[in-house]
Amino acid sequence: MVKPVFLIAARRLLRVFSSQRETVPGAQDAAQQAVPFPGPFRQRTSALAHAVSDLPNQAVQPTLPNLLSGEDRRRETEAIRFPFDGICCSKRLFLKAAWTLRRQGIILISEVLRGDQLERFQGQINLLLDAITNHETSGLEDIAYLNLPDQRVLKGYNSFVDADRAVINHRIKRADGRSGSDAGMIDIFHPERLSDEIEELVATSLQEPIIRRLVMTSCLTPLHVKCRNLYINRGVQDTRSFHCDGRSLKYKSFLFLTEVNNLTDGPYCYVKRSHRDRSSWKESRRFNLENEIGLYEYSQLGGCDALPMFAKAGDMVISSQRGAHRGLPQQPDAERAVLVNMYQR
Ligand SMILES: [Fe+2]
Repeated sequence: MVKPVFLIAARRLLRVFSSQRETVPGAQDAAQQAVPFPGPFRQRTSALAHAVSDLPNQAVQPTLPNLLSGEDRRRETEAIRFPFDGICCSKRLFLKAAWTLRRQGIILISEVLRGDQLERFQGQINLLLDAITNHETSGLEDIAYLNLPDQRVLKGYNSFVDADRAVINHRIKRADGRSGSDAGMIDIFHPERLSDEIEELVATSLQEPIIRRLVMTSCLTPLHVKCRNLYINRGVQDTRSFHCDGRSLKYKSFLFLTEVNNLTDGPYCYVKRSHRDRSSWKESRRFNLENEIGLYEYSQLGGCDALPMFAKAGDMVISSQRGAHRGLPQQPDAERAVLVNMYQR
């Protein structure tokens, strides 16, 4: 049930934000129909690892949430699913989606991207992967910073975000040997700067004008796009356990470019309502301090439910990054490509 006070405030915000314009060209507000992605774009082999973080010398281990499955997973997903054409055409549905994001911390918007646009994006990703493989001759080094396993040209997250070109960061194992490195993942910062065609596809996929308005309506705070990323995961197994991305107001939209319909595909997982649950956060923080675990790890989630987000290619997930989340480890031959947008104050 939507509270009248929220509706009034949200409508007031809508009037303010609807007058603002984004600068990314090619963005479309029109409803679009998605079809399944035609198939995997790459194959790779390596050994399968389990989701639990490997924390040496700990007398007490972190506790993990229960992963929802079967009918429970379907019901919890359906409760936060909204069709893209619906939120474009219906103010009531738009406000319901914003309210659900506010209360649950996560929503799924289905069919954001059309099948033909997905195919074009797949083609561009394949060309890009070829260019990375043949970087010495492909000319990629002239238009992007390449952080490859044997060639690091930039260091630190902030330098990637502030870079004046796209950054292609091939993640490697952490220097201290601890788990959660996402080793093997290709994380591309500012992919829209790689070419005009990718810039247009990124704008069409992210739908920034309406998605930004929806997120701002949800949190009643002006937000801006901080950074766009393209994640390419192929058999990535050493993924970080449940955590939050700091405690400040931050949202991400994840546009799936490949289908995720199995735990072995490495779905994004989220503990609903954890973004508003201060006691859960404090419990983890206390445990982390006592056990020398990173400040933002959600280490005490026993008794909670985590929702693995299965999605079709072309669907979008939006979540508050204050909440407990993670990407599950993938099976060796699994592939996942996701276009990510970060909204911050
Ligand atoms: Fe995160």
